[in-house]
Amino acid sequence: MTTPASSIAIVGAGVFGLSTALHLAKNGYKNVTVFDYQPYDVNEYNPEKGCDSASSDVNKIYRCSYGNEVEYQDLAFSGRPTWLEWNQMIASTPASELPNGLTPDSKLFVPCGWLRFSKESELSQYDQDCLVELEKAGLRHWQHVLGNKEDMQRLKEKDIKQPEDKWDAKLDLHRSFQQGKLAAFLDTSAGFTYADKSCIWARHLCQKAGVRFVLGTKGKLDELIIEGTGDAKQVKGLKTADGVEHYMDVTIIACGGWTPSLVPEVEGVLETTAGSVVAFQLPKDRKDLWDKYSPENFPVWAYGVTGHHSPEYGGFYGFPRTPEGKIKIGYRGRKWTNFQSVPKTNKRISVPVTKYTAAKVENLPKMALKNLKQLVGEMFPDLAELGVSDTRLCWYTDSLDNSFVIDYVPGYNQSLFVASGGSGHGFKFLPVLGKHVVNQLERKTDQFTNLWKWRTATPGSDMNGLSEGEFSGRNLASLEMAEQKDWQWKQKEAGATKL
Ligand SMILES: Cc1cc2nc3c(=O)[nH]c(=O)nc-3n(C[C@H](O)[C@H](O)[C@H](O)COP(=O)(O)OP(=O)(O)OC[C@H]3O[C@@H](n4cnc5c(N)ncnc54)[C@H](O)[C@@H]3O)c2cc1C
Ligand SMILES: *[C@@H]1O[C@H](CO)[C@@H](O)[C@H](O)[C@H]1NC(C)=O
Ligand SMILES: *[C@@H]1O[C@H](CO)[C@@H](O)[C@H](O)[C@H]1NC(C)=O
Repeated sequence: MTTPASSIAIVGAGVFGLSTALHLAKNGYKNVTVFDYQPYDVNEYNPEKGCDSASSDVNKIYRCSYGNEVEYQDLAFSGRPTWLEWNQMIASTPASELPNGLTPDSKLFVPCGWLRFSKESELSQYDQDCLVELEKAGLRHWQHVLGNKEDMQRLKEKDIKQPEDKWDAKLDLHRSFQQGKLAAFLDTSAGFTYADKSCIWARHLCQKAGVRFVLGTKGKLDELIIEGTGDAKQVKGLKTADGVEHYMDVTIIACGGWTPSLVPEVEGVLETTAGSVVAFQLPKDRKDLWDKYSPENFPVWAYGVTGHHSPEYGGFYGFPRTPEGKIKIGYRGRKWTNFQSVPKTNKRISVPVTKYTAAKVENLPKMALKNLKQLVGEMFPDLAELGVSDTRLCWYTDSLDNSFVIDYVPGYNQSLFVASGGSGHGFKFLPVLGKHVVNQLERKTDQFTNLWKWRTATPGSDMNGLSEGEFSGRNLASLEMAEQKDWQWKQKEAGATKL
């Protein structure tokens, strides 16, 4: 039985590991150690400095609209006050007391709104479900369906009350794209988080609460220490890459896309897949673009994002510019796999490959880039003129039903636990996820414990792509990759764009 007296190892200092550590400490756990091979104390979760976890990123969407997945809607809303409180805490902390990478003017959460475009003149079923469920929860007042008289009137009133939110200006994107014909709604409760900065802050809070961090080579899980057989089989802790053995009562694996290669039992439950991301760098002398795309004037947006399965030409989303003038746009209409033989089990499973792994990938599949270029050419001709400045494959951990997997691994007498399966939507829960992880560890039932429990596929279910395997047409080895020369738009690709 896991109690505050238990010693806990958490492997992985991404969102799942950090949030778990934070809430264990809050619940009186005194012996919590987080291991990660990334030297986050040095590289500060910065994706330009060697960090390649899903959590190490410039920004992530924060939204509460979740179709009919009410649990996630509730969970997202439950974390919103903490995001705002963290902004306040940072603003009121002297610079000298903030961790490296944060200054008193750093914001973690920017509620700039989210403009959700349908691909048609009607809202998608998913969008309609969002509105129905938010209405039931008494949260419809945050939402504004474009063209709906009452909703637009309410938005005007918001602008009168708080002109600095500039909600009307944030609808310019809707007016300019496809002549305003697409159905859309503006979610004013949503926005984005600065991901790297949020992780720096959460790690800082963990340290202040007494959590230990073992980072770099010393923090790399080499193997689990497994003793006993049959019913008596138990994980006693872990051996790290420096050869040191760490004995612990409970070992939690929160390794994101690396989880399936470390815990073979998750086969059929979790699969590592990649989303495609492009970035644009605004030139210093283009003040017009810096203004247009600033979070004060421009919302987070999505086009054709419909629940778990977006259409192949769909699943696009993007952000306002960063303080450094970077604009990130993502595509998840198809998610890629990278099947390799894993040394210890010899099984072929999908594992992350990034700019920083031993085998490297420096570019996107051509198909991802082609779709992204088509959309950007139509939606943002001024960015197409600049060309792409950077690309990234960012590794999700998809679960068989897109819900998180947070439970003990069967067969180890409650000594091995997995906290993963972020399925492309876990970041926003950083402030609150761990609260429910602790409940699952202590076997206390809450709204989420059943949803996240260990489970296997129901025969005949669609399995969220996990059953597609190596020869699905999504495996990188079978795909033509783009080259850097493809990052520019050619005249004919630009379509209506004047170049
Ligand atoms: C392209 C993309 C876009 C996304 N967009 C959003 C969004 O807009 N909004 C949102 O809410 N969520 C989003 N997500 C999802 C979110 O990023 C993830 O759910 C979340 O970051 C996962 O966190 P994690 O801790 O499970 O994994 P990760 O962040 O991947 O962390 C795993 C950690 O484990 C460490 N590790 C791995 N192997 C070992 C080892 N052997 N020893 C020690 N440490 C190890 C890694 O270094 C890493 O730090 C997105 C994800 C992707 C990929
Ligand atoms: C399971 O672990 C507990 C201690 O955590 C121990 O008391 C019990 O004997 C173990 N069960 C088996 C079958 O080994
Ligand atoms: C934490 O637990 C481990 C394993 O049980 C033990 O070796 C270590 O001394 C404990 N550390 C502290 C500070 O209590």
